[in-house]
Parts: sequence; C-alpha cells; structure tokens
Amino acid sequence: MLELSARAKSISPSPTLSIDTKTKALKASGVDIVNLSVGEPDFPTPDRAALAGVAAIANHFTRYTDVSGILELRQAIADKLLTENGLSYSPSEIIVSSGAKHSLYNIFMVILNPGDEVLLPAPYWVSYPEQIRLAGGVVVPMPTDESTHFKITPAQLEAAMTDKTKAILINSPSNPTGSVYTPEELQALAKVIEAHDIFVVSDEIYEQLIYGVHHYSIAKYSDKLKDRTFLVNGFSKTYAMTGWRVGYVAGPAPYVKAMSSFQSHTTANPASISQKAALGALGTFDPKHREEFQARRDYVLNELLELNGVTCTKPEGAFYLFPNVKAVLGKTLRKNNGETAILTTVDLLCEELLTEMHVSTVPGTGFGAPDNFRISYATSMDQLQKAMDRMKDFFGRIE
Ligand SMILES: Cc1ncc(COP(=O)(O)O)c(C=O)c1O
Repeated sequence: MLELSARAKSISPSPTLSIDTKTKALKASGVDIVNLSVGEPDFPTPDRAALAGVAAIANHFTRYTDVSGILELRQAIADKLLTENGLSYSPSEIIVSSGAKHSLYNIFMVILNPGDEVLLPAPYWVSYPEQIRLAGGVVVPMPTDESTHFKITPAQLEAAMTDKTKAILINSPSNPTGSVYTPEELQALAKVIEAHDIFVVSDEIYEQLIYGVHHYSIAKYSDKLKDRTFLVNGFSKTYAMTGWRVGYVAGPAPYVKAMSSFQSHTTANPASISQKAALGALGTFDPKHREEFQARRDYVLNELLELNGVTCTKPEGAFYLFPNVKAVLGKTLRKNNGETAILTTVDLLCEELLTEMHVSTVPGTGFGAPDNFRISYATSMDQLQKAMDRMKDFFGRIE
C-alpha cells in the first residue's frame, strides 16, 4: 500500500466520535446504554427552521449560492450580532460555513504560517489542537484546573506570550468544562491581548446555554481588539441543528475575504437548504430549553458530589459536567463477574463504566485533562437518573 501523507498520519481521530461509535455498536447489539457522551442538544430543530428548509427544497432553492453564504443570511446574522451582542458588523465581515468546526478550520488555515504559536487554554475542545496542527501551527497549552474554575489568568496569559504567538483561543462557555468567563475576567484578558499584536479566536457557540450568568463577547472590549478578533458561532447548539451544518465567523473584512477564497476551493457554499433553515431559526431560541438544561445540571451535579472519590466544579454554561476522579485513579474496581480491574487511567475508568454499567462518557485525555471525564446532560431526566444510579453502584465498587 502506498503511504498516507505525514499530515494524515499526524491526526488522531476525534475521541468524542470514537466513543460515540462504540456506544452505538453496543446499543445496536441490544444493550441498554445510557449515552452521556453526545455533544448535541436532544431537542428537535425549531419548526420555523425545519419548515424553511422544506420550503427551500420545494422552491428549488437547491443550487450553488454565494461562497460566503446568501446575503440575506449574512445580513440577519449581522442584525443578531448587533441586537444580541452589541457588535456592529457588515455582511462583508461575515462568512457562513458548513458548521462552526468548518469556520474554525478556515480561520486557522488563513492566519497560521508554519511554526506560529496558538495559545490554547486547557482543558480544550478536542478539535482545536488537531486543526491548529493541520494548519501548520504549534499548540501552546495553558493549563488550568478546578482552582480557577478552569479559567486562565491575565498573568498566565502574559507569561505564555512569545514572539511567535499568533493567536489565542477563547471558548466561553467552554466545552468540556462549562466554564463561563465574566465580562470583567474577559476585559482583564483583553487588556493583555491588546498590548500584543495577535489574533483572538472567540468560539461563542454555547452563548445561549448559560445558567444565571451573562454572555459577553471579548470583541466588545475595544474596536482595536474587534479588528483582530474572529467571533465564531453557529446554529448547532442554540437551535439544535447539528445535522444541518451551519456555522459562521464575524471578523475583519480582509481576513474574511481570505477565508471566502479558501472556502471557494474546498467546500464552496454551505448547503443552500441549510442556509434557508438557519435564516428561519434565527431568533427562535426557546428559553425553556435553558431552564431544562439548568435543572438537569443541578440534578447531575448533586448526584456526582455524592460519589465516592469524585469532585466537580459547578459549570455555568454549555451542557457538560467535568468531574475530577484523580482520587480513584490507581484504585481497584470489583467487577460484576467477580474479577477486579485497576483503574490506572481515566480512559480505563470510562471504558469500564461503559462495559460494566453501560454508561457512556468521554475521558478527559483528549481534552488535555487526564484526571477528568466529560458528562453531557443533553438527554432526558429519566436517562440521567438511570445513569446516576448506575454510577453510584460503579463508584461504590472502587476500593
Ligand atoms: C466548542 C465547540 N466549538 C465548535 C463546535 C462545532 O460545532 P458545529 O460544527 O456543529 O457548528 C463544537 C461542537 O461540538 C464545540 O463544542
């Protein structure tokens, strides 16, 4: 067999997707799995969006569109950014892509030269480091832990800057920790960033999923910073539209233009039907979903804190909990069949939780956090109760 490229060989498959595949295989073989590994809301796409998609098909809106997305949608996104985020953008400063993951990849491909460093607060969403490396960049992780609610500090940021730093990534609310930076915290970071000539990639895809706090975009800090910030958002999480694949970037026009040229030679426009559906979705976020997520978070967090050897900070956003299991790593699990297993790593712990208890979660290793695992509470309360009962049993058998 002819060899794969070095680039292809350097990529690790998405750990969230591989757990999902294992989970689906077990489910298909008839096992009663509780799946807490998914990164998508369990609510349906809003009717207005779905009907707009259907109408697009019926009206034969099924051809190529502007590479950057139809003007109508970019204008509607600009209106949303002004009314909801207090940020003024023109449609020429907005590019729509096939999901926010695609948007992020476009950004890294147009701003990074080989060797350019990107500051990445850890724990991080699994695709950031892979995308940065694929674009030739160097990942500089900035470790955080529970003591700062997984948030970087201005001093830490200042210390991480080098003459090779090209960008910093901010993801608030965060996947996987659920942490949300306060406006004051972001302003303090912005002050440091402003003094250096670097880009900001601000992934705000979970902006609507916040519980008792406010979302603030770092682009609001100053015009100077806004001119170097890529604000990334999309329809997957807010509108439960993961399968439609629509995301966008708002940023400085020359860079957005470069992204459009890049996109023109890779995927071209995002699906015409999905763009119409996205247009239908804007403004239909249902605050009841937020309340439902918050109730689930509170329930799972309280249950987690009862478990033997588990600690967990209270996340203020997204739909994940990120418990710490350092205290049980290296300990012994008594299995259902009478055998024992030593839980040397969190990967092993999550695997045993899946095979023994049929609860699917994601180990923190891929997120840069080997003492933690990720629980998604984007599933029904019934399923969550079942999962927590099983986990109580599991953690009770670790000694
Ligand atoms: C932090 C973060 N950013 C971006 C994305 C990508 O979302 P999509 O490509 O579905 O728009 C995800 C999806 O899980 C995410 O968690």
